[in-house]
Amino acid sequence: MSEHTPKAQANVRGPRATKAVIPAAGLATRFLPATKAVPKELLPVVDRPVLQYIVEEASRSGINDVLLITGRGKTSMVDHFDRQPYLEARLEAKGDMERLAAVRGTSELAEIYTCRQGEPLGLGHAVSYAESHVGDAPFAVLLGDEFTAEDDPLLPQMLDLQARTGGIVLAFIEVPDDEVNRYGIASVESAEPDLADVDNVVRVTGLVEKPARDQAPSNLAVVGRYVLPGTIFEAIKRTKPGSGGEIQLTDAMALLLTEGTPVHGIVYRGVRYDTGMPLGYLQAVVQLASQRTDLGPAFKEWLKAFVAELDGPAGAA
Ligand code: G1P
Repeated sequence: MSEHTPKAQANVRGPRATKAVIPAAGLATRFLPATKAVPKELLPVVDRPVLQYIVEEASRSGINDVLLITGRGKTSMVDHFDRQPYLEARLEAKGDMERLAAVRGTSELAEIYTCRQGEPLGLGHAVSYAESHVGDAPFAVLLGDEFTAEDDPLLPQMLDLQARTGGIVLAFIEVPDDEVNRYGIASVESAEPDLADVDNVVRVTGLVEKPARDQAPSNLAVVGRYVLPGTIFEAIKRTKPGSGGEIQLTDAMALLLTEGTPVHGIVYRGVRYDTGMPLGYLQAVVQLASQRTDLGPAFKEWLKAFVAELDGPAGAA
């Protein structure tokens, strides 16, 4: 176990979450036709699928039990984390130990469990499928298309904070006014003095899913990392369809908030890769390819020349 075990933290009230749930049943219409037969979670960012970055993030945070909420046509997501004895034997026979380690490594990241969300009726509905797997212990929810920079993690702080508060811990980014209608938006106040040692923490006083620009209480948007107490399941059962006619996780969390569950957020200022839309996906590929020690130098050299050419004579002037 890492230094993030509950015993290493001051003021620990409860256990640190040890399980993560990844809702991944969506249809990914933004990437059609690429996602007609390939789950969007398996689209590659350089040479690893998006989902692998997310499971690696969980694993680095001390979570090695991951439940994938899947849907029809998405079983290849599970295969990615399975052993591949035939492929491994071929790589071993060729002496390609680097690729062998890469192939084996994916099956050693975490214990992967799956369950099916029969119909995609919303994020809250997806999370409700995790109840029998996680029981009443706290757990993390990681959305399947966003992840943070490896050297600037967010999840460990969130897990530690939730173990102290026993409540809900969210992650926020600041978004421009014209983007508030794409996110859950929070109203916040300063956190309690006994949390003064936690960087960038705020106490949440209200939550609303995808508000219109003039209804948004702030510019703090909920991003795809949540640490939740087991009481969320019962709250989801009491949650009626909301924004988009779907059972929203935001609404279930807002219900617990009004009933006294402490809700905190950490404002994240690090690099976040959002591969849920084509532009963000392309940006993630370029950023992560540039950082690679093997591909990076040649790729950056090509990229600079390419951009200079795009700028044309005006850029050169
Ligand atoms: C979901 C949540 C929303 C959150 C967003 C983060 O929305 O419902 O509250 O801000 O993820 O990406 P979706 O992107 O699934 O519409």
